[in-house]
Amino acid sequence: MCGIIGILGKDEVTDRLVEGLRRLEYRGYDSAGVSTIVDGHIERRRAEGKLDNLAKTLSADPLTGRVGIAHTRWATHGAPTTSNAHPHATLEVSLVHNGIIENFKELREELQASGRSFESQTDTEVAAHLISREIEAGATPEQAVSRSLKRLRGAFALAILFRQHPDLLIGARLGSPLVIGYGDGETYLGSDAIALAPLTQRIAYLEEGDWVVITRDKVSIYDRNDKPVDRPITVSGVTGALIDKGNHRHFMQKEIFEQPVVVAQTLGAYLRPLEEQVALPALPFDLAEIRRISIVACGTSYYAGMVAKYWIEQLARVPVELDIASEFRYRAPVLEEGGMALFISQSGETADTLAALRHAAENGQKTAVVVNVASSSMAREADLVLPTHAGPEIGVASTKAFTCQLGVLAAFAANLARARGRLDAAEEKRIVNLLAEVPAAMNAALAHDAAIEEMAPVIAKARDVLYMGRGPDYPLALEGALKLKEISYIHAEGYAAGELKHGPIALIDENVPVIVMAPSGPLFEKTVSNMQEVQARGGQVVLISDPEGLRAAAEDCLATIEMPHVDAFIAPMVYAIPVQLLAYHVAVAKGTDVDQPRNLAKSVTVE
Ligand code: AGP
Repeated sequence: MCGIIGILGKDEVTDRLVEGLRRLEYRGYDSAGVSTIVDGHIERRRAEGKLDNLAKTLSADPLTGRVGIAHTRWATHGAPTTSNAHPHATLEVSLVHNGIIENFKELREELQASGRSFESQTDTEVAAHLISREIEAGATPEQAVSRSLKRLRGAFALAILFRQHPDLLIGARLGSPLVIGYGDGETYLGSDAIALAPLTQRIAYLEEGDWVVITRDKVSIYDRNDKPVDRPITVSGVTGALIDKGNHRHFMQKEIFEQPVVVAQTLGAYLRPLEEQVALPALPFDLAEIRRISIVACGTSYYAGMVAKYWIEQLARVPVELDIASEFRYRAPVLEEGGMALFISQSGETADTLAALRHAAENGQKTAVVVNVASSSMAREADLVLPTHAGPEIGVASTKAFTCQLGVLAAFAANLARARGRLDAAEEKRIVNLLAEVPAAMNAALAHDAAIEEMAPVIAKARDVLYMGRGPDYPLALEGALKLKEISYIHAEGYAAGELKHGPIALIDENVPVIVMAPSGPLFEKTVSNMQEVQARGGQVVLISDPEGLRAAAEDCLATIEMPHVDAFIAPMVYAIPVQLLAYHVAVAKGTDVDQPRNLAKSVTVE
């Protein structure tokens, strides 16, 4: 989603701003722009599409200046055109924005009534006009921003530059993240520490409602009531080097293949294999007292939560309610005392999940977050942080973050069961040993990459694809369908295998591939019966199972994908690999933009 960078530099900033935008590319965007102050006036260069288009615009029409702001835009209001691209400017100010200004219509009408004219269809432009109007009436930049912020409703991170003050940048944060970078005689603003990594490692995180006035050697931070506040400077530890794809064609492919290593790293933080015990970091509350759990997340993280519901209820016998984050607050959930709300997020910045976390905290729930970005808003706000150690995930389609989330959630379920006296030493030992097997089983699953690549062109021709699974493999059917939709743009749906006959089976004909996940185990025969109902109607099945399962049921399938034999408990972590690889190879066969699929953003910071 939108990325922001601002530099108050000792020397020229444009190239560094564009470099910062490249580091934010992974978030997803559809236009980009830069603004600086040149000889006392505001200059801008903007372009539709990828950053290369902005680079071409800049090489045809270079931009000088020692102070500047830059932006990658993910369109919310108005098409992704050059005129809607940020920065938005008036004669006096230029600004970039991440988020949504919800009351922009009324503000726009008010500003238009006072004679101001707009050049874009965006919500953002009202902020530029509000601040500008104050300045034209004689306000200082600080007064202008402070007054204007109080008029804005919604979510925003803003970086603003002022024509008459080439030694000044102002930033603000409400709902969308913004960090301050401290350099040597320079200061910076950025959406995250990754954008600023080549410039500085010294980072301060703005809190909700904060705004900041920066010059080259001074930083003044104010809270939402304009009271001066201090926010600690931390060392980010993010490397300045651009993360590369190694020998892989795409980040997604690299991230799929990293899974055995990063899952092992993640499990290493939650298992004590020598003692054959699971272990969580120090807990700020007693797990034994948890009476019920609400799991809340979006997209792939939500599917990880769905698997966790099976694990937690089976092992710990604690009831789990599962919510899509965008629905959670608005359905007025019953949040009783003694409840715990568990949030799952790769980025830790997803606006819907963050808002749900705050809602749960305000309603007396203990909050925990399974999160990949340790410095994210969710990590800073939750009572308990359960980190995944997946490393930066760049591909928009989540892969390694998902399996690392599953690793943490499995360990959490076992800990909860132990705390509630429902896991004896033998069962704990069994679970630790099963989880310790996962990286090797993932390697064995990855060994079937070439076979999956071979079948991809057939699936790539389909208009619709169905996925089915039972029990904890049902969420994988949903995840497989999401992966395929996201990156290949083929319509796909996931179903609980037993549910197909209640309607979706009407879709089946010889043109609809059906991907069936059926590890041998307690649910195998039931899943195979459902698969046979599909085959009886001409459905073309791709069966994913272990050697035993394939021996029993591969007949009449369009294709098979062999998995190692694993216990049903860890099957979701292993079976994630073939569904990821299938989506990947189908997308490659279709020639889509695998790492930055159309219309999608990596970190969705608007509601
Ligand atoms: C997954 O492939 C998606 N791109 C998306 O569904 C993602 O999982 C969702 O937006 C949640 O993101 P988060 O984990 O960063 O909160």
